[in-house]
Amino acid sequence: MTLPSTLVEPALPHAVGPVSATILDTLSRGRPTMHLRPIDVPIAEADPYGLDLQLALYVLYELHYRGFHAVNARWEWNPALLHLRGRLEDVFVGAVRRDVGDIAPDDTAEAEMDAISLEPVDGGGPSYHLRDHGTWEQMREYFVHRSLYHLKEGDPHAFAIPRLAGTAKAAFVAVEFDEYGGGRSDRVHQHLYAELMVAAGLDASYLGYIDHVPADALASVNLMSLFGLHRELRGAAIGHFASTEITSSPGSRRLVDALRRMDAPEPCVEFYAEHIVADAVHEQVVRTDVVGDLVAREPHLETDVIFGIRARDVVENRLADHVMQCWKEDRSSLRRPVG
Ligand SMILES: [Fe+2]
Ligand SMILES: [Fe+2]
Repeated sequence: MTLPSTLVEPALPHAVGPVSATILDTLSRGRPTMHLRPIDVPIAEADPYGLDLQLALYVLYELHYRGFHAVNARWEWNPALLHLRGRLEDVFVGAVRRDVGDIAPDDTAEAEMDAISLEPVDGGGPSYHLRDHGTWEQMREYFVHRSLYHLKEGDPHAFAIPRLAGTAKAAFVAVEFDEYGGGRSDRVHQHLYAELMVAAGLDASYLGYIDHVPADALASVNLMSLFGLHRELRGAAIGHFASTEITSSPGSRRLVDALRRMDAPEPCVEFYAEHIVADAVHEQVVRTDVVGDLVAREPHLETDVIFGIRARDVVENRLADHVMQCWKEDRSSLRRPVG
């Protein structure tokens, strides 16, 4: 299948409030200086999970991935933007910590992984709904929500690689190697997702739907970037990664069932079918060799691993609740409808 040629560097999104407007305005100016002149934005009033803060954070993180077309690459390390990013992160992670709540001293990463590997046969989230009753239009919305992540799948977690050692590092890279197609560009999961988007009649461009998705879809990727970009949070990054791999296989099974029921194009089925098989193997590697080895090597990180797993749950549940609420009310879960 031929994919549309997409720019490596995506276009800047549109501002949605005072914080994102300030950042987008700053980036569209010329070459940045390395002086720290704090950027004044009204963060105190910003909703931690709101669209303005999440879009602002997404744009700042994107400077560490592909950047933006016609935006000077030196903005990545501009002290004023980093300072502002830190303030936004404090607001976001503060809300996530509040929603995760206390982690008991005797809670273990192993028990946490056991708990998330037992998914109910019937649940209330979008993949259950799509499997049993959802429409093809709702499935396409789901693809759009997930496009921000799957078109950069593997990348946010890859920031953790230099922070690991020994078996944890080797096993982590082995799993990531599969995400990146095992050396074959046509098997890179990002590429498989682009094929899914084209087959569903959607735009496969990287960040193509950043102006369509709601805050909770942005927060889902921002959480991974936050964990990946802070060495201090490497335990949480690994917990998030473990949770992603452990819950992927059963969730992908439901989506394959949904897509078969809808008689969807084969590339759409193929993406999730690949994840049923691959992630069942990844789960075992991640549990024992990545998390097990990390916790044995750095026992003080165990609480952070648990935090990463629970934080993912909090943020993903917000998106799931948003989508299901909209669908129950028979309206689009996107900010802007797709054609
Ligand atoms: Fe994958
Ligand atoms: Fe995987």
